[in-house]
Amino acid sequence: MELSERAADFFESVSKAANAIREAVKQDNYIYVFSHLDADGVAAAGIIGKALYRLDARFRIRITQWVDEKIVNEILEEKPQMVIFTDLGTDYASLLRQKAPEIKVVALDHHQISEPHDDFPCVNPHVYGIDGAREISSSGIAYFVAKAIDETNVELAPIAVVGALGDLQDKYEQRSLGGLNEKIVEDAKSQGLLTVEKDLILFGRETRPIHKALASTTNPFIPGISGEEGKSFAFLENLGIKTKVNDRWRALRDLTDEEKRRLCSALAEYLISKGLHYEVSNLIGYVYTLVKEDSWTPLRDAREFAVLLNATGRMNKPGVGIAICMGDRGAALEEANKILEEYRRTINEYLEWIMEKPGRLKELENIYVVYGEDRIDDKIVGAISSILSTSLPNPEKPLIAYADVKEEGLVKVSARTVDAVVAKGVNLGEIMQIAAEKCLGKGGGHNVAAGAQIPIENVEVFIKLVNELVGKRLAGEKIGG
Ligand code: C5P
Repeated sequence: MELSERAADFFESVSKAANAIREAVKQDNYIYVFSHLDADGVAAAGIIGKALYRLDARFRIRITQWVDEKIVNEILEEKPQMVIFTDLGTDYASLLRQKAPEIKVVALDHHQISEPHDDFPCVNPHVYGIDGAREISSSGIAYFVAKAIDETNVELAPIAVVGALGDLQDKYEQRSLGGLNEKIVEDAKSQGLLTVEKDLILFGRETRPIHKALASTTNPFIPGISGEEGKSFAFLENLGIKTKVNDRWRALRDLTDEEKRRLCSALAEYLISKGLHYEVSNLIGYVYTLVKEDSWTPLRDAREFAVLLNATGRMNKPGVGIAICMGDRGAALEEANKILEEYRRTINEYLEWIMEKPGRLKELENIYVVYGEDRIDDKIVGAISSILSTSLPNPEKPLIAYADVKEEGLVKVSARTVDAVVAKGVNLGEIMQIAAEKCLGKGGGHNVAAGAQIPIENVEVFIKLVNELVGKRLAGEKIGG
């Protein structure tokens, strides 16, 4: 079926959700918005927050890593009349529905769903045959709902682009966004808020001296250069690319086309020499620029904006990210910059710790495992998993990383893989769900990026199970049911 046909039903569910929210505001309901702590979740919360603010609604936003019985009980204590879940598995919304049927629920989510829900407004692309891992993210869904509430919310389109890039949905030709995300890109472009062009994709292309941008790039991960400013500097010097002109550092955007070409070929050769030929195609691609944002801020390049939102969510300061999505700059942006710096430092520390001793990252038959235990923050283990998964000796083996959540008696697991493994039949969302349930936990997510939370005492069994399930899928065996 064509996207336009599948999208018609999807947009009907968008309208239903928008109507339910508008109606609740009309009745002066108190609305509690729950969203996930990554970039897409923070962006989705910011978009819905702005739409509610424009309606003059009474609302509160809370960011969380997951929803469980404890959180459901906390929701009940707050006595909201409506709860909107964004970017949190739709099944979590059902959990609340079962406990408190009198509370109105709206779920806006793009995670794989076990079965469609029709007892409350639920917008989930998978129900309509639209791939929620690449065609639209939760902030995109939130955007379409916000736009259906009020057309002025079209100005939030760039925030949805940021969310989609944060969720690594740039899986189309040369790292472009496709599917329904393309419609959002068009909206943002037609408002004069976004430009899209092809270029070398280095992190901080707008804000950082070129050697720092090179060192900050982790997608692709360039071993010996990513995280290594001195070596990045030397790499550029060797190529005869000047890092400074007239005492002023040059950013990627200051390089001539010829210099960019030279840099790109050298990086490609370098990656191939390290056996990372997969990563070469990730060097060049579409870049999304929020042209109304000031130059030299991390909000101008959409991918950098996404990292900033991710940092606020994972460093326990999601309010700052949400405020920025809702339009705050000034003090909020200053604080976000500090959070971003702290986040980078923390990630580098974790990566060093993992690499310091063998045994912290182990290779099993079918997967890699990072034993983060009580050393890695459970909110950051997802980011570590994403970064490491692009730099494994064998990128075709999925990676799982876990960290203890001591006060809950749980471990938080993050699993990542590449599309080539998905093409062989491995769906990490499915594997996390099956393995977690067998270990008395909860799991789910997307085919390439998924997670779970399980009782701490079951972690060894869980790892063994995931290793087996991946093996079975690679051998073409069925694992569900
Ligand atoms: O936490 P992490 O970033 O590893 O999660 C990867 C993806 O899996 C996220 O989109 C998250 O919402 C999803 N997830 C899920 N169910 C869980 C844990 C994670 O759907 N129990």
